[in-house]
Amino acid sequence: MCGIFGIVTKKEQNLGSILVEAAKRLTYRGYDSVGVATLSGSTIDLRKDAGRVEDVAAKYKLTEMNGTRGITQLRWATFGEPSQVNSQPHLDSDGDMVGAHNGNVVNNVELRKQFMAEGLLVRSQNDGESCVHAVERYINQGQDFIQAIRNAYNDLQGDYAFVIGKINDDKLFAIKKGSGLVVGIGEDFTCLSSDLPSILPLTRKIIRLEDGEIVTLKADGVELHSVIDGSIIIREAETITEEMNAVQKGGFAHFMLKEIHEQPDVARELLHVLQKSEAVKVILDKIKNARQVYLIGCGTSYHACQAGSVYFAQLANRSAVPVVATQFIEQFLPTLNNQDVGIFVSQSGETKDVLNAINASKESGMTCFGLSNVIGSTLTRAVAEWLPLCCGYEISVPATKTFTNQIIAFLYLAYQLGGKDMNSLDDLPGLMETTIRTTMLQVEALTPDINKWDDLYCLGYGATYSIALEGALKLKEITYAHCEGMLSTEFKHGPLSAVIKGLPILFVAGPNNVPLIVSGLNEVTCRGGRAIAIGEEDEQLKTNASDVITLPKSNPWFSSLLSVIPLQLLSYQMAVARGFDPDFPRNLSKTLTVD
Ligand code: M6R
Repeated sequence: MCGIFGIVTKKEQNLGSILVEAAKRLTYRGYDSVGVATLSGSTIDLRKDAGRVEDVAAKYKLTEMNGTRGITQLRWATFGEPSQVNSQPHLDSDGDMVGAHNGNVVNNVELRKQFMAEGLLVRSQNDGESCVHAVERYINQGQDFIQAIRNAYNDLQGDYAFVIGKINDDKLFAIKKGSGLVVGIGEDFTCLSSDLPSILPLTRKIIRLEDGEIVTLKADGVELHSVIDGSIIIREAETITEEMNAVQKGGFAHFMLKEIHEQPDVARELLHVLQKSEAVKVILDKIKNARQVYLIGCGTSYHACQAGSVYFAQLANRSAVPVVATQFIEQFLPTLNNQDVGIFVSQSGETKDVLNAINASKESGMTCFGLSNVIGSTLTRAVAEWLPLCCGYEISVPATKTFTNQIIAFLYLAYQLGGKDMNSLDDLPGLMETTIRTTMLQVEALTPDINKWDDLYCLGYGATYSIALEGALKLKEITYAHCEGMLSTEFKHGPLSAVIKGLPILFVAGPNNVPLIVSGLNEVTCRGGRAIAIGEEDEQLKTNASDVITLPKSNPWFSSLLSVIPLQLLSYQMAVARGFDPDFPRNLSKTLTVD
């Protein structure tokens, strides 16, 4: 995910080193290109390219760049392939303004046509360039920056933050709409960035921008304006006292909680990326014509495969077999040939079990595709095509946001394959926000009672089977309680004997499976157990369950995805109440590079 950083200083100085260090601090967000621009008098020095910060910095001597103002940007490709021309920052038509953005301008294609028709020089396909031209067209009419940015804001659709500056000036201007933007105030300089950690090594005096605010950076201070009416906004700077580690948690007590809350944003980001992805087309073409499709992963990533298999079958009438990577080699290797397709799923892209399966499968001629969160990971280099999960860095060992984005990637593919209404997927991030907000307190109310137990069950059916498995894994992983995830219909075939008075059994109820789930609820409650249903508002659930955690209304596919959120929150709250650190559970590592 992209990141921007800008700085204004009192005197001309070496800014390259400061900008490169700031860029390095943004790398955890994920990126494929980097650029630096410095402004000095009537000159703009712009150097950029696709590649790692260290490599681009060495090739273009970025650390030697001087100026009084500077901008750096890390780009994660959405509009336009990773290349020098698509890297940011971007110049305006005559090269006397430079700017960069973070986010997505969704009407980029239409805007580029307009700019070209107006005679502006459009050099790249990137939407960051559209932000620059959107301001340029009003500056050319004689407007000042604040007015030009206010007009550009009306033209640019989507969520973004951008920064821009002009030659023969001493300021930078930036606006926030949907993407993060924090301002730093230091001795004889001011700066801004997509996030706090990249500012803190320079200054601890900061101002957090709200959506719809424009900031003017000068060496001796900043000014805030409302984009709506241009009025001045007065906001006192705050001083950050927390340690860096706490700051990286963005005010949350743990990375896990932060990452749970990031799920709607990264879902939005992923949907934007998939809409533009050439790889999606290649993967779908192969899947359509494949003899057999396999979805392969380990742990949480395997659970996403399980969900993907249901989506492919139900939404696209395409059978796809979900398999744990190690079992895939043992069970299916002899049957594979070059008409088969495997999608290998791994957050880290480095899980040895998954890499082993890829290597073995390639020898059989099977076409191997991937889903991974880490650009440049071994998986992404080993497969024919791969889709990024666009989650930024997931620090907490329990996977949360990468799981929901794995599921969204599968939903996206199944929707495309089944010719479903793709626009309806845009509702998902908002539904996820609502789910986090509305289930938090419901889960909190139940946590103390559930936390008394060390043996739990989490049951699902159809699309929610994978969620039951994932919920159980989250509970085991960070609370150290035993929790078995299974099909609700299988419970009566044995585990029902474990039910005793008060034992909590979690049922993940898809909206199309309520009657069946109701039978399961009663099997538990009539034996004194406590049946806790997670599902949409439903009279039958209310009547038959001991407790209900209510999800917003959607459809069976979205609902299954949403239902993992209260289970993530429950595991988190139980772990914290037990005094365990959910981010670093004992015995576990984030990336398992061993057999
Ligand atoms: O990086 P991967 O997705 O390949 O990792 C696979 C599993 O190790 C991982 O999903 C693990 O189960 C998670 N820590 C569970 O939260």
